Amino acid sequence: MRLASVVCVFLTAGATSAADLRPLSSAEFCGRCHRAIVDAWKTSVHAKAMESPLFQDGLELTESRFGPSARTVCLECHSPIAVLTNDTSLRQKVSWEGITCDYCHSLRDVSFSGKNPKAKVEFSLVKSGPIKDAEAPVHGTVFSPVHLTSAACAPCHEYRNSQGFPVLTTYSEWKNSRYAKSEKHCQSCHMYRVKGDVVDPKIHKSATAKVNLHQMPGSHSLEQLNSTIKARLSTSREGDSLKLTVVVSNVAAGHYVPTGSPMRQLLLDVRADSYDGKHFQEERRYARTVADQQGKTVDLEPLAFMSGARVVSDTRLAPDETRTETFSFPVPSGVKAQVRVELRYYYSPLATTEAQKQLTFLTLRRLVP
Ligand code: HEC
Ligand code: HEC
Ligand code: HEC
Ligand code: HEC
Ligand code: HEC
Repeated sequence: MRLASVVCVFLTAGATSAADLRPLSSAEFCGRCHRAIVDAWKTSVHAKAMESPLFQDGLELTESRFGPSARTVCLECHSPIAVLTNDTSLRQKVSWEGITCDYCHSLRDVSFSGKNPKAKVEFSLVKSGPIKDAEAPVHGTVFSPVHLTSAACAPCHEYRNSQGFPVLTTYSEWKNSRYAKSEKHCQSCHMYRVKGDVVDPKIHKSATAKVNLHQMPGSHSLEQLNSTIKARLSTSREGDSLKLTVVVSNVAAGHYVPTGSPMRQLLLDVRADSYDGKHFQEERRYARTVADQQGKTVDLEPLAFMSGARVVSDTRLAPDETRTETFSFPVPSGVKAQVRVELRYYYSPLATTEAQKQLTFLTLRRLVP
């Protein structure tokens, strides 16, 4: 920890000085030096976790159904700074920044002894992170081993609600996978190192020209989906039916696909158009269906977080799992058919536009003679 350097460094006029630094700052402030990191973070769902209209609609619904104090449950993860600084009415700008710099870099440790993983956070002029012996002009630094592991993500990606029901199980799914055994932490897939300056080189020359990607590409990233979920199609004729076999696998996610919110679904949509003018279609859904204590299926995020009580069915793809799906359509031999297979990732019923709702990331076409 090097706090001594905080007071004795003055930068050129108009630039950032130690006097500007408060124990809790907006990402804009950090961006004066950590420009590349702030730019990447701005495009992340973490940065939009509060402003997102989906979340705002969910928050409103939560308050109207469960009373005004229920908003704290949501803010714990979508704006942890608001809860920790008693700003649940959201007066500070930084509370609107969602999962922002000064939350993650005030993290000192994570405890797993209670019902949910709990973050130990200290807002101060000292920022915790992965660099040993870092020296910064305006803030102190402390090396933090927890930033290198999945534990840093657990406080928000693993959650039992007040019924004791596990709503989010991403961390424990990972913990039980081969990825945990080989020490492939969340960061290695969601914060891999890319070219970039840790600090603007005009201000400070860092030891490497690489940064951990703060964009957190996940299910909204075509690249992640395409490299992770594979599908193969084969076709055959059996008497008067056309047989289709689709093999779907989760080859590279360190947890189930989908993971997280029970509203997420992976959809396999299979369609055959025969040359005698008939259309056939079937679908498979990979999802976790959750019900409340009355047995009613939960169909919105706020209800899953507040009143989810048991799993009705779970057809998601486990890490490394391969599923073989077969389909049979009545297309007589001698009649050609155009076959199309699509994989779609479905996000949330709260979404209002088609683009927000789902993303088609894989299409296979074949003409069966
Ligand atoms: C969700 C938590 C999270 C948020 C939000 C976050 N960081 Fe990080 N940051 C990390 C983790 C974890 C690492 C280390 C990753 C590793 O080494 O595997 C890191 C690394 C860093 C580093 C060290 C250099 C590097 O790239 O490894 C700096 C500097 C940094 N973050 C600054 C910022 C700034 C500035 C912001 C705000 C735009 C920010 N971080 C937002 C979790 C976060
Ligand atoms: C005036 C420039 C400046 C500003 C403003 C600034 N930093 Fe830094 N920061 C640095 C420098 C320089 C380093 C050291 C980098 C190195 O050693 O490679 C650093 C290092 C870090 C590290 C790495 C610490 C470690 O031990 O791993 C983190 C995390 C970090 N800063 C977070 C922040 C956050 C959060 C903010 C906003 C509240 C912020 N910084 C604002 C210049 C700045
Ligand atoms: C303070 C809580 C918090 C912490 C800590 C946190 N996250 Fe998140 N994360 C969220 C929330 C909330 C969302 C969903 C935001 C939304 O869609 O509104 C999210 C979404 C994501 C997504 C989804 C991206 C997508 O495309 O939809 C990924 C990936 C992710 N986080 C990875 C991580 C990793 C890796 C870490 C640890 C380094 C981490 N998170 C730490 C709260 C957190
Ligand atoms: C081996 C690589 C790998 C590891 C390790 C990994 N993930 Fe992922 N993750 C992915 C891929 C690929 C996706 C996109 C496909 C999907 O949504 O399942 C994803 C998606 C996600 C999503 C988006 C889910 C949604 O509902 O939209 C979240 C959140 C997430 N990961 C969090 C985590 C956390 C937290 C950890 C650590 C406990 C972790 N991941 C470990 C590869 C990985
Ligand atoms: C324990 C942390 C946690 C709590 C508590 C929490 N969320 Fe979330 N929320 C997440 C994460 C993580 C994601 C997205 C990624 C995933 O599926 O894992 C998410 C996603 C969402 C989404 C979907 C956003 C999108 O972009 O698709 C909505 C809406 C939402 N949450 C609303 C709420 C509401 C309303 C509450 C309070 C009743 C709440 N959340 C409580 C962590 C949390």
